[in-house]
Amino acid sequence: MRIDVITIFPGFFSSPLECSMLGRAQQVGALTVQVHDLRNWATDKHRVVDDYPYGGGAGMVMKPEPLTLAVEDLLREAGPDCPVILLTPQGQQFDQAKAEQLAQQAQLILICGHYEGVDERVRQSVVTEELSIGDYILTGGEPAALVVIEAVARLLPGVLGNPASLHNESFASGLLEYPHYTRPVTWRGMSVPEVLLSGHHEKIRRWRYKQALRRTRERRPELLEQLELTEQARELLAEIEAECNRE
Ligand code: ADE
Repeated sequence: MRIDVITIFPGFFSSPLECSMLGRAQQVGALTVQVHDLRNWATDKHRVVDDYPYGGGAGMVMKPEPLTLAVEDLLREAGPDCPVILLTPQGQQFDQAKAEQLAQQAQLILICGHYEGVDERVRQSVVTEELSIGDYILTGGEPAALVVIEAVARLLPGVLGNPASLHNESFASGLLEYPHYTRPVTWRGMSVPEVLLSGHHEKIRRWRYKQALRRTRERRPELLEQLELTEQARELLAEIEAECNRE
């Protein structure tokens, strides 16, 4: 997959793209990230990419021309079907399902918004979708673009050592993850649950499933409501319910 990022702070991406999983994804050839300085498409000698808002008010607005020229140049190579995604708090909430959908694409173009926002006509002319990483305001779309790149890259074939782990983790199943333990068995008076030491795979699987259901019920009950529960999930939830009533 290829991801093109349009930003006024290209330096923001250098270190995160080199490290860890994202560095490896590029080394193994699963991912190519091209970071582009928006000012290269500015049309004046001072390379200005923002201007005052019509109608007055605080803050600056990103001009339509440099952004649109940048996207049009990139689309010439990428082809007209390439998603052009604006990172903005006004966008659709980014989630695991969206990451999985984007991971199917051959190429993405990400636009990092700044200042008070981008001229509305950029949305109307070149943006195909808008994504938000959460209900809070960042100074710019760069951290949000990194979040999208990271969540998508790890889903690409050949990037994770053990692809089976993708199927067990939070959100792949629609549930939060069960608790994890490693050595030592007892640490500061706290012990690893007996069942995990038993070697009994079916019991361990059931315990983990129940813990995942319990956590999700406690912390994110709205996620449970979106799931089609299996027979076993219903049984385990009834057990959890009974245990909570006893406590
Ligand atoms: N730009 C500023 N805040 C943002 C957010 N929460 N998500 C995506 N882009 C943003």
